Amino acid sequence: MRAVAVYPTQLEVRVIDHPEPKLTSPTQARMRILDVGVCGTDRDIVSFEYGTPPDGYDYLIIGHESLGELVEVGAQVSNVKVGDLVIMTVRRPCPHPDCVACREGRQDFCYTGDYTERGIKQNHGYMTEFVVEEERYLNPVPRDLRDVAVLVEPLTIAEKSLEQLWMVQRRLPWDRPHRAVVLGAGPVGILGAMALKVEGFEVSVYSRSQNHEEKNRLLDSIGIPYIAAETHSTEDMAKTVGPIDVVYEATGASSVAFDVLKHLGPNAVFVFTGVPGRNGPIPVDTDEIMRNMVLNNQLVLGSVNAPPQAFQSAIQHLGAFAQRWPDALRSVITARFPLEHALDALQTQTGGVKNVVAIAS
Ligand code: BGC
Ligand code: ZN
Repeated sequence: MRAVAVYPTQLEVRVIDHPEPKLTSPTQARMRILDVGVCGTDRDIVSFEYGTPPDGYDYLIIGHESLGELVEVGAQVSNVKVGDLVIMTVRRPCPHPDCVACREGRQDFCYTGDYTERGIKQNHGYMTEFVVEEERYLNPVPRDLRDVAVLVEPLTIAEKSLEQLWMVQRRLPWDRPHRAVVLGAGPVGILGAMALKVEGFEVSVYSRSQNHEEKNRLLDSIGIPYIAAETHSTEDMAKTVGPIDVVYEATGASSVAFDVLKHLGPNAVFVFTGVPGRNGPIPVDTDEIMRNMVLNNQLVLGSVNAPPQAFQSAIQHLGAFAQRWPDALRSVITARFPLEHALDALQTQTGGVKNVVAIAS
């Protein structure tokens, strides 16, 4: 079968022929891949800055944002059936018996770093025709979300952050409306902004972007103000928005993030989700940040990957977005490319939001 593979030592990315996987245990299922989304992580992998092939391979099949359709199930598979649409989780547990996180199925909190990630770290991904996976890693998604279901995985990044946020905010034992700022208007930012909005936050998006108008229109249609970083300093932004309770960072741009950190409101939480490249040190006023953080009870939280419950929340939220903002949601997917043109999906940034490799229909 065809697959998109990156060869890190040869510095090559190409469509290859890879053996079709077969069920090896009764608890597995085989999926036909329909859609695979492309994100910044994939772009880093195909520029050889990130990503590791599985042991024994000189290539890695990329792709971690999946949508598949079940074509075969093992005898002990009970909660899904042939024909179901599923999204697969990304991270697989480390093998160490004393990693309590992985042993509890929370490899998103793995202690050892020896987890694998499909399409990213030592485990082949989904940008291919068929995959085999254990039932426990499959998350069924309703058929009426077929067109947008590939957005579930990027949305899980926000869902895990939200779960963490609610948990830590129990430190404030009262209910009050929250004001959130999302940094970045890429897919993770836009989907995160939608989730925060559905959860009742007053949301603004602060971003640098080549296609302001498109982003502005999209966010405007869902009642979220877009504040352009090119024309508004972080200080202007903070003044416009008012005291910020939550920052959801989805850019990976540390300079902007640390600048915004200075303008948090009382008792605020700042959630980092972007993974910056190594761009060298920049000056930061650490005294100011530390003083504000202490005097205002502020919290900085990093969040990576997502557990199965975040996939459930993402599927529910995506259904809510589809009801409330069908056009805006559809416009998050800006281009679909066939598998033969996957390299275009990875290399071109059409000015849109999310490129998808459409492998089957
Ligand atoms: C993926 C996560 C993964 C992270 C780090 C992100 O793009 O969505 O599942 O944990 O990259 O590799
Ligand atoms: Zn991703």
